[in-house]
Amino acid sequence: MHLKLGFIGFGNVAREFVRILEERREQLGRNHSLTWQTTAIATGRHGCVLSGRGLDLSAAVALVESDRSLAELPAARSVATPFEVVERCDANVVFETIPLDPLTGQPAIDYIRSALARRIPVITANKGPIALAHRELRDLARRFQVPFRFEGAVMDGTPVFNLVERCLPAARVLGFEGVLNSTSNLIIELMERGETFDAALAEAQRRGIAETNADFDIDGWDALTKARALANVLMNGDDRIAGIERDGIRELTRADLKAAVDKGATYRLVARAIEVEGSISLRVGPEQVPFGSVLACASGTSNVLVLKTDLMGEIAIFEKDPGIRQTAYALLSDLLLLSSSEFKL
Ligand SMILES: NC(=O)c1ccc[n+]([C@@H]2O[C@H](COP(=O)([O-])OP(=O)(O)OC[C@H]3O[C@@H](n4cnc5c(N)ncnc54)[C@H](OP(=O)(O)O)[C@@H]3O)[C@@H](O)[C@H]2O)c1
Repeated sequence: MHLKLGFIGFGNVAREFVRILEERREQLGRNHSLTWQTTAIATGRHGCVLSGRGLDLSAAVALVESDRSLAELPAARSVATPFEVVERCDANVVFETIPLDPLTGQPAIDYIRSALARRIPVITANKGPIALAHRELRDLARRFQVPFRFEGAVMDGTPVFNLVERCLPAARVLGFEGVLNSTSNLIIELMERGETFDAALAEAQRRGIAETNADFDIDGWDALTKARALANVLMNGDDRIAGIERDGIRELTRADLKAAVDKGATYRLVARAIEVEGSISLRVGPEQVPFGSVLACASGTSNVLVLKTDLMGEIAIFEKDPGIRQTAYALLSDLLLLSSSEFKL
């Protein structure tokens, strides 16, 4: 299958995905019959370009990484806004990877809406739209019979949504608890080892795992947005989320962390969802968890999610030290799912 790719957002995740595509070109062709060209790239500050003939993706990566405009690409036609890219791109799959806005999910929701309404399949790693507009976008995708995938929105490329959808038929997810924000977790671990909060945050940013606006990690917004996305998709939560509590790790001190360690515990930023009488409550906040517990096992940048189900009891999904490559892999795994015969592109 030959695909025309469009990128809305061309940051850390999208560029790492491009590197995987280039590295695996031969394998993807041989094992998955997949070939591609890129017809559109939209960014915030590095230009918005279209091309019927195909854009050179490696050159696009090099330009953005040297802070130059994509308008310099051979065969590129510049347009004024990302919306114009979505409206005019000749793509048969769009990757949406713009920064998270945990309050509105915008403008990502509008980009996705516009692409789906034009019958263009969408793959996103952005949790905002899944947390804040899941039902609308899912229904739009169904109405236009177009795939909409978002495995990278929570726990990067670790199968969470696909696991439940594909491997737990007829089981109900009743609730969950998880450590879902790598940046907070890394900061806690580095502070336990004696780093200052600022130095620990700088390390998370250096590794490319922090949100574009790192306050969203530190103040619990990222974890809450992931919890909402999980509750919407896995617990049919869209209209049933009745209570939300959010706290982050900003106030944690090295003394707090040491006091916990002295008691045989460590802090984690924990996200919880419980269902009570048909309503779902979400809570995100720092908690002391005993060493050796499932939640404590998620150290460093690792994540863990415990799903509570009716037919399968509790299932823990652990992701060890994900980096940008694992999020980029989510785009690839969704792309391969889309290009499989069950979806008609
Ligand atoms: N990084 C991770 O480990 C990770 C993990 C899981 C999920 N995610 C999610 O993946 C998404 C992308 O993350 P990232 O690390 O790649 O972010 P990033 O490096 O900050 O890149 C964001 C990209 O979006 C572009 N952009 C910004 N505002 C835009 C707008 N209004 N319209 C169109 N493009 C816009 C930026 O362009 P300019 O640079 O030109 O401004 C840049 O190309 C986020 O939603 C994040 O939550 C990230």
